[in-house]
Amino acid sequence: MELDLLGTRHRTHYCGELRSEHAGKKVFLAGWVARRRDLGNLIFIDLRDHTGITQVVCRPELSATAHAKAEQVRSEYVLGIEGEVALRTPETVNKELATGEVEVVVRELLVLNEARTPPFPLDDEGRTNEEPRLRYRYIDLRRARMQHHLRLRHQAGLVVREHMTDHGFVDVETPFLTRSTPEGARDYLVPSRVHPGHFYALPQSPQLFKQILMIAGFDRYFQIVRCFRDEDLRADRQPEFTQIDIEMAFPTREELFGIIEDLMAKLFALIDVKIPRPFPILPYDEAMEKYGSDKPHLGFGLEWKRVPLPEGARGKIHVSEPIKVLRVPGGALFSRSQIDKLQEVAKSAGADWFASIKVAGDAVPPLAKVMGEEAVRSLIASAGAADGDLVVLLGLKSQPPASESSAASAAAGQLSVEKLRHLDFASGDVRLDLARKLDLIKPGTWSFCWVVEFPMFEYDDKEKRYAAMHHPFTSPREEDMDKIESDPSACKARAYDLVLNGSEIGGGSIRIHRPDIQRRVFQTLSITPEKARERFGFFLDALESGAPPHGGIALGWDRIIALMCSETNIREVIAFPKTASAVDLMCDAPGRVDPDQLHELELELKTAESMEAVRARLKSVE
Ligand code: AMO
Repeated sequence: MELDLLGTRHRTHYCGELRSEHAGKKVFLAGWVARRRDLGNLIFIDLRDHTGITQVVCRPELSATAHAKAEQVRSEYVLGIEGEVALRTPETVNKELATGEVEVVVRELLVLNEARTPPFPLDDEGRTNEEPRLRYRYIDLRRARMQHHLRLRHQAGLVVREHMTDHGFVDVETPFLTRSTPEGARDYLVPSRVHPGHFYALPQSPQLFKQILMIAGFDRYFQIVRCFRDEDLRADRQPEFTQIDIEMAFPTREELFGIIEDLMAKLFALIDVKIPRPFPILPYDEAMEKYGSDKPHLGFGLEWKRVPLPEGARGKIHVSEPIKVLRVPGGALFSRSQIDKLQEVAKSAGADWFASIKVAGDAVPPLAKVMGEEAVRSLIASAGAADGDLVVLLGLKSQPPASESSAASAAAGQLSVEKLRHLDFASGDVRLDLARKLDLIKPGTWSFCWVVEFPMFEYDDKEKRYAAMHHPFTSPREEDMDKIESDPSACKARAYDLVLNGSEIGGGSIRIHRPDIQRRVFQTLSITPEKARERFGFFLDALESGAPPHGGIALGWDRIIALMCSETNIREVIAFPKTASAVDLMCDAPGRVDPDQLHELELELKTAESMEAVRARLKSVE
């Protein structure tokens, strides 16, 4: 159809603004057609912009031209409307709409643009599959929900900038074209044309740059920064995501915690949530024992205990010690099949020994037949269970000792550090499953906590060497300095994570600022001096140039915003996110490049597979 020009007309109001007090006013609105109802003589159009919807009505007797055009407009056409605000009759007031007491009677209608039929209706919140939503993101983003999320994200960003500035932090940009950074994921590489055969890496985080800024005397730095990690994606992971990256010189952990807690309070005030402070601080070991997680959800009870096998049970069941016990209040009412399902969760989480005890007065639980009544009573007591409760027991099966020597049986019966962690994580899965089944996770609960004292090193069984649990620049605790070489597994880090409702929303540490300690940590991590120089030489030089004690944190911005918006997937708060297989469906990235571009970069492809073939191959592997 013939399109109109906007000319010099300008909008007088947004579509969500008009109220009864505007009645009689001449207005010019502009927006998209959300809905059109043609009653013959009367045509109603719901005109939408990011602020809301106003009903406009076209009557042929007021403007035959406008009415004729209105007959032709369709969903998502872009219109300009000049008309008069009129009060609706009481029976036609729409209480669902903020503008529902009025409508605009059209004098002139401009069709500023046509639109293809939308691939999905905009008002079917939640029912459209994700694929078309991501492919036609510009349509999806018109929805009120997405507008709300991205606008809240913007407001929250302002709060961060103001808060950090007020505390003396300076926003400094750090490079995207850089060297590989040590966060443990794969890098995204960018080939250099000027230096053929050489690659930049996109930063997994600005870790080394922010430390260098401390060495450079900036004292306090922050940045709202994009990070890039080529890792398996999940609901809370994107290949490019945003961090609030923070570093300070001469820090105390408590001062940093205070600054971050105050920031969280200001952010959550944006959604009218008052959060209690200070946040609880939980050592890693306690979090793992009680909640089976290093990012525990503290919004409900259900706390595990590690206990030895009761004396009487030893030898009757082949389970390594400790085992874990959990009291489920009121759980004696669980049905057989509910308990079977719990057992399945435990098994698939890796705990191959599962038992349960229903506590019901003097009745002797069936488990007593296996381990004796006294052992069962002692487990009930350890769990702190009372009449009507269920006690869940988890463990890892042990092999009966091959030799009769007591040392051999002790070795067979005790869990190694790695196995204990495995059992703890399984208990965490069971806890979360129970909480979901018992409906213990209530919306509107905001449970923050700090998890501290992480192990410094993790033994990688496959690689047969230690890896840094946080990253190699994290300082060991002062009291553990002598264990760096002699007992790495027992060495604790000055690292901390910030957790909200079971989601890790930040992580950081007090860093190593002395080159001698950095060298010792590299050694334990089997990073040879040559390798260290090759990878981080620039940083080691900087450390030797008067590095102040320093530390910091990075907050997972997408995760925080998703939680503030009550979304479970961070894609819902990112304008143009990628799918679980790291594809941007809208631009169809990654894509092929021109052979000339490859030639210039002196790169040659070994495979000429099409994107479709790659995707089909990946699907068949999945
Ligand atoms: P870390 O690797 O723990 O620490 O990252 C900090 C926070 O960033 C978020 N996050 C992610 N969010 C979305 N998608 C991802 N792929 C992703 N990966 C991490 C998490 C996490 O807590 N340099 C250190 C920080 C420091 O030591 O100061 C770092 O990057 O919420």
